[in-house]
Amino acid sequence: MGIVTEIETDWHAALAALAWQYDLGVQDVVQDTPLNRYSLPDVAKPLPAAPLPAAAIAPFAATSPPPLETRADAVAEARQMAAQAGDLAALREAIQRFDHCELKRGARNLVFADGLPAAHVLVLGEAPGAEEDREGRPFVGRAGHLLDAMFAAIGLSRTATAPHEAIYITNVLPWRPPGNRDPEPAEIDMMRPFVERHIALIDPKVIVVMGNTPLFTLTGERGILKARGNWSQALDRPLLPMAHPAYLLRNPAAKREAWADLLALQAKVQG
Ligand code: URA
Repeated sequence: MGIVTEIETDWHAALAALAWQYDLGVQDVVQDTPLNRYSLPDVAKPLPAAPLPAAAIAPFAATSPPPLETRADAVAEARQMAAQAGDLAALREAIQRFDHCELKRGARNLVFADGLPAAHVLVLGEAPGAEEDREGRPFVGRAGHLLDAMFAAIGLSRTATAPHEAIYITNVLPWRPPGNRDPEPAEIDMMRPFVERHIALIDPKVIVVMGNTPLFTLTGERGILKARGNWSQALDRPLLPMAHPAYLLRNPAAKREAWADLLALQAKVQG
């Protein structure tokens, strides 16, 4: 039996083929039927177009949207909407209404937060991945399982009901970037007012930033591996940078330092 026939007729072979593709990084379905690009006719590459005269471009220049970097209006609108949100439900609704971030159009779900709003520790991640996008909850994939195990090791959990034993988890971006690419600075700028408002509403004793994106969002610094373990201050409260659990999955040797950071966090929240 050929491999194609086998996949078409044997459920287990089909599942194995799907798992193999998933392991290779194929996580999104683009179309219903496969396209054999090797059998497509050769199409001559178009010649590069000659530059248009300035007079031909001018009428369009005024109407095309400005690049993301210059969308100061979007940042101002985000600030205003965030400031008006008096509680978490209003903040969630404001983010849902905010229409300037292109990521929203490609996402299945808004990923707002998880955990206990009264928690003493707020954990800030980067952005949802494929599983989070599907479930609408932060850190539910492999990195999330590790995150839960890490905090459980110091007696903290997202399901705890006592504030001193609980964590509250949210992300810098509430929508999944396509292909899990890094968030762009313009996207971070746009969503920062919502993140800051979110933290103000939760009013945690301590913020833990996991990875480069949340570190940059709250402190303007980059270089999580250098910053990790060094307490600083952001939004009038102590901030602890830690390596992202996805990084720890790829670099198990770094778990040693992460453990030291967790112990420092435990000492801080118990002290
Ligand atoms: N990584 C993050 O930073 N956040 C999530 O919610 C999931 C993975």
